Amino acid sequence: MEKKNIDWANLGFGYIRTDYRFVSNYKNGAWEEGALTENADVVINECAGVLQYAQTIFEGMKAYTTADGRIVTFRPDLNGERMEQSAARLEMPVFPKEKFVDAVLKTIKANEAYVPPYGSGATLYVRPFMFGSDSVIGVKPSEEYQFRVFTTPVGPYFKGGVKPLTIRVCDFDRAAPRGTGHIKAGLNYAMSLHAIVDAHKQGYDENMYLDAATRTKVEETGGANFLFVTKDGKVVTPKSDSILPSITRRSLVQVAREYLGLEAQEREVYLDELKDFAECGLCGTAAVISPVGKVVDHGREICFSSGMTEMGPVTKKLYETLTGIQMGTIKAPEGWVVEVK
Ligand code: PLP
Ligand code: COI
Repeated sequence: MEKKNIDWANLGFGYIRTDYRFVSNYKNGAWEEGALTENADVVINECAGVLQYAQTIFEGMKAYTTADGRIVTFRPDLNGERMEQSAARLEMPVFPKEKFVDAVLKTIKANEAYVPPYGSGATLYVRPFMFGSDSVIGVKPSEEYQFRVFTTPVGPYFKGGVKPLTIRVCDFDRAAPRGTGHIKAGLNYAMSLHAIVDAHKQGYDENMYLDAATRTKVEETGGANFLFVTKDGKVVTPKSDSILPSITRRSLVQVAREYLGLEAQEREVYLDELKDFAECGLCGTAAVISPVGKVVDHGREICFSSGMTEMGPVTKKLYETLTGIQMGTIKAPEGWVVEVK
């Protein structure tokens, strides 16, 4: 199979149309089998549930070329499980996780020519999503849905690759206690747009959201969880019911403990504690691990000792181990790496 003629090393995080996508419709209480199509356009009624009341959920994952030339993806079962939970919370029919994994693998395989080569720094981003497709005018769930998976080759989520980011403590809240912060609903991202545009205008790379109830605890950013390293080398990551249960973060906690022999704590993290950490990073499928050099809290600068020029040493070890597992140079725990055949 011949790869597409793409400048892999200079890709940003954007949409490039690839050849195939998977589509399955839900009608009369059942999902149809679904199939690959070349048609990237979606045609729906003006009154569709997704357009009126934002009834839409999604997932984000990646396909990688390993050092020995195989195409793999990372823990797709966990994305399938999370999508089931997102669907249940928004009164959408569950697209079963086994069918989800099958659809993802089929879509990656069909777009094999777009999976960036090993060592290029790029990956194939995979975006499964589902939305209410029939008309609703009273506030109620749709009766019909569409599940789709498309792919797009991507480079780093943050411009500048691994250059440490500067983020600000955000005055807007991302998620309410007992709200929808723990699921991957489009609405969580719509409401973050004003905050991110404003952060960029003020010269910051991202927002640090605090817990809405007390505004004393660190939650996450608009698209990634936080990870901190203490001065004595412990990994600490915020625990909260209103953040997205990041698959990258859950994997990194296991990597820290089992591969690097580090203590890893999942616990509440107070804004007041930030000054005591040595390193900070954002973790997620898109972000991988992006180092944070500085957090600004209304003019007060909290600088991590790892500095503004490179990743801290523990963050770097975590990054190298995780990406080594994903790219096949480090042995993965059972079931983490799934080959696309
Ligand atoms: N938090 C938010 C709000 C996200 O959108 C994402 C991206 O999926 C993450 C965290 C990271 O989750 P994961 O590691 O599963 O990609
Ligand atoms: C991901 O990391 O896959 C996400 O969905 C985050 C998004 C902000 C791109």
